[in-house]
Amino acid sequence: MTSILDELAAIRVLPVVVIDDPANAVPLAEALVAGGVSCAEVTLRTPRALEAMRLMSSVPGFVVGAGTVLSAQQAEGSVENGARFIVSPGISIPVIRASAALDVACVPGVASSSEVMVARDEGIRTLKLFPAAQLGGAAMISALRGPFADISFVPSGGIGIENAASYAIDGVASVSTSWITPRAEIVRGAFAETTERARRFRQEVAR
Ligand code: 3PG
Repeated sequence: MTSILDELAAIRVLPVVVIDDPANAVPLAEALVAGGVSCAEVTLRTPRALEAMRLMSSVPGFVVGAGTVLSAQQAEGSVENGARFIVSPGISIPVIRASAALDVACVPGVASSSEVMVARDEGIRTLKLFPAAQLGGAAMISALRGPFADISFVPSGGIGIENAASYAIDGVASVSTSWITPRAEIVRGAFAETTERARRFRQEVAR
């Protein structure tokens, strides 16, 4: 059986979405699918994020997860609204354990080898590296893979079309970015641009 993390790794790109109006959720998901990227992380940074998540989860073949999850309660609310994976910017043991209890994948953020070890102790093997560019980008991942060869990373933070290709390396499960889905473009309903950005970004990180 394919796990959700395998599905995300096959897509190789994880758009980070900040969505203000849930009316944009379905057209946005459809635009991403048209560009070959059938997943998104909806961040809990806007009042109507959960509604948007629920709507996106109804799009056939589209995998939606929750981002910026800072508490166990937020993890629960996200899963109730269709999230199939949970992403947090750092390590939160309550979020990791709530996700396990809900039987959904959790991708916590790490910024150091000590944090990798904390997550490993919780049984996690796929980690977000955040903020990736500021931490040294692909070179940081290669360095961490020395001691942690069993860990896959989802780099996130400061990744755009100009540096995406540097992450087409061993140890990267998927590349996370808001470059594909700028908040202002979503507000304008510029979904043809979303499709084009998805296609271009995916080409850059393909291996
Ligand atoms: C985030 O949490 O905002 C993500 O890491 C995306 O970062 P980016 O906006 O720099 O792509």
